Amino acid sequence: MVSEVKAYLGEDWKAFEKLFAETLASRIPVLNKVNEYLIGRSGKQLRPMLCMLASRLCSGICSPASIRCAVASEMIHTATLLHDDVADASDTRRGAPTIRALMSPTASVLVGDYWLSRGVITLIDACEKTTLRDFSECLGDLAEGEMFQIEKAESLDTTLDDYIYIIAHKTSSLFRAAMKSGARNVGCTAAQLEAIDAFALHLGLAFQMRDDILDYSPQLDTGKPAGQDILEHKITLPLIGAFENAGAAARAAVVADIGADRFNKVLPFVQDNGGIEYSQKVLEKETDLAVAALAFFPDSPAKALLCGLARSLCLRQA
Ligand code: IPE
Ligand code: IPE
Ligand code: MG
Ligand code: MG
Repeated sequence: MVSEVKAYLGEDWKAFEKLFAETLASRIPVLNKVNEYLIGRSGKQLRPMLCMLASRLCSGICSPASIRCAVASEMIHTATLLHDDVADASDTRRGAPTIRALMSPTASVLVGDYWLSRGVITLIDACEKTTLRDFSECLGDLAEGEMFQIEKAESLDTTLDDYIYIIAHKTSSLFRAAMKSGARNVGCTAAQLEAIDAFALHLGLAFQMRDDILDYSPQLDTGKPAGQDILEHKITLPLIGAFENAGAAARAAVVADIGADRFNKVLPFVQDNGGIEYSQKVLEKETDLAVAALAFFPDSPAKALLCGLARSLCLRQA
């Protein structure tokens, strides 16, 4: 699906890749080395694809400004990962050591700041005026989501509503900014923007739910280690689903185990109590909502690719 999207975006995708590499050039050799390392291990590049598909969906084209938004989306995403790997003490990402592990947490934060700043600079003066507000709001949402996650990791009482709040803020926020900016920078209508925003919100939720299932799937090679969320006391959807199926006494015992940093029973508990199946059902409903939001648009290649991408992300293994 990803290669179909890149093929459809054609020259616009090439322009994205070129601008992305150019924007990162620094005078500091060690920073250039780190940047090359990161560019050489790019991830799925989902957010720039979504941004550019939103442009095409609204107008049939990408504009120079919307390609800048795609670059900013991937840079801001990478910055959040560099920060997240410090927050989560992660040693591996995209199948390779993190900057945190290779250098230090400080270096990871600073390189993240650099990418964030380059992402924002890419937008200034070139983009429609609300674009910067969308991305700034997204960064505020992300911090709120992460802070609430920290609070809930202390209290160990995450409800389904809390979980949805957390992932809407930490993950959907950037999906929304990426897609809205792609739409705004080709002169979309208010109704188009609203439909795209709803698609991005629900797709972002489904995407993070799948990520949280993968964290409970040690048999898969995702490029990052499984079982990390519970080590950070993050109660995510598979565990919430298992709690719902297991009843109060079993739930209290598992919460007590987690509070005491005894994690070995958590994965079997989730597996035995249908937590994965529960999560998969919820994320497929979110994907349905995402696809339904696009019903507003007439059929087009961009619409078909967005719907196909949403469906394929439901079953992604990495
Ligand atoms: C990882 O995002 C962080 C989450 C929101 C789950 P991706 O899975 O899109 O990361 P890369 O860029 O492909 O590595
Ligand atoms: C997503 O949460 C992080 C951000 C949105 C920045 P995770 O902590 O689950 O992401 P991974 O699993 O480390 O990629
Ligand atoms: Mg993490
Ligand atoms: Mg994760």
